[in-house]
Amino acid sequence: MEVSVYRSRVTGAVLAAVLSCVAVSAGADEMGKALSEKAGIPYPAVIAHRGASYDAPESTAPAYLLARDLGADYLELDLQRTRDGVLIALHDDNLRRTTNVTQRFPERADQPVSSFTLAELKSLDAGTWFNVAHPDRARPTYADQKILTLDEVIDIAEGGTNKPGLYIETKQPKLFPGIEKDLKEKLAARGWVDTSAPAQVVTGGKTVQVASMPGRVVLQTFEKSSMELLQQEMPNVPKVLLLWLESGSIEPRPMPSFADSGEKDKAAYYAKLEVKSKEEYASWLDWAKQHGALGIGPSSALTHGGDQSYADLVQPWMNQMAHEKGLIVHPYTVDEAVDFQKISAQGVDGFFTNRPAELLKFYDRPSSDTIDTILKRHGY
Ligand code: G3P
Ligand code: CA
Repeated sequence: MEVSVYRSRVTGAVLAAVLSCVAVSAGADEMGKALSEKAGIPYPAVIAHRGASYDAPESTAPAYLLARDLGADYLELDLQRTRDGVLIALHDDNLRRTTNVTQRFPERADQPVSSFTLAELKSLDAGTWFNVAHPDRARPTYADQKILTLDEVIDIAEGGTNKPGLYIETKQPKLFPGIEKDLKEKLAARGWVDTSAPAQVVTGGKTVQVASMPGRVVLQTFEKSSMELLQQEMPNVPKVLLLWLESGSIEPRPMPSFADSGEKDKAAYYAKLEVKSKEEYASWLDWAKQHGALGIGPSSALTHGGDQSYADLVQPWMNQMAHEKGLIVHPYTVDEAVDFQKISAQGVDGFFTNRPAELLKFYDRPSSDTIDTILKRHGY
């Protein structure tokens, strides 16, 4: 008898929690959809993180060509600048992980990307590391892939039947004074931020046409100072403030350091971090809104961990608060159906993903071509 009462109470509590989650999700879906549509941003958005970087070396031509031809809405890139002033797409602030810099320039291997000229960067092999790290996805043609300039990523975005948008992060912007202005000048020269001709809203076709939508470019940054400069340079271009939970950024509840925590890996440690208070979280959203952002990019804790699993900043109350403040929510970086399902139910408006083919399947927009077919079509 007691057991059955207990079960009935638990069942009731679970049901109430599920119903409340469904209610949050349904409301959040409507709000996120309306906010996205108002900004001319696809809903839900498929943002190919460093290209289709699960299946090809990140930020290289095969990764971006694959993302485009699969049907991703956006090509995501991390913006840096060479010593001779050229804008390039590269994530890390040095070249060790994704190039053969230790062989080509051994004495400079730990120097920042900004200390290399474009010619020096173009002399590096930015693909072989992928074949070594991922033999199951390796292709001989990935060897000697090149670091791309922003111009080259734009060429890829413009070069196919699908016309994705660009989702550009100013990476370590304090290392690159003036990069926000350089970016504006490049995007204007390439016709991506010409606001004199109103963009059309294109929906419902068989091909991706985000490049013709008002949200054709989304600018993103973790740095408040860069957000201010982006807003100053490109007030009419949609912007997203990326969120990170750490002392000095969004303040967490007190926790031992990773070294003292006893956790087995960083993902397990990050998953235990919590925001100090709702007020603390709200203050970041308010700052974003007041400084021109139309969205936030929160981190996610992934079911199976890994090196892109961070603090859980996609809890239902967080997404609801963002929507109520008029901000869309694009979490990074999610690759598996179990997480697409779980986090979508918590009320988000798309995802950064290394696996756009998987996210497109989840959103019932599967590519008609396989990954292999697309890569072979481009000679990989
Ligand atoms: O830009 C969203 C996401 O990419 C942020 O993390 O380190 O992969 O650039 P990161
Ligand atoms: Ca990024």
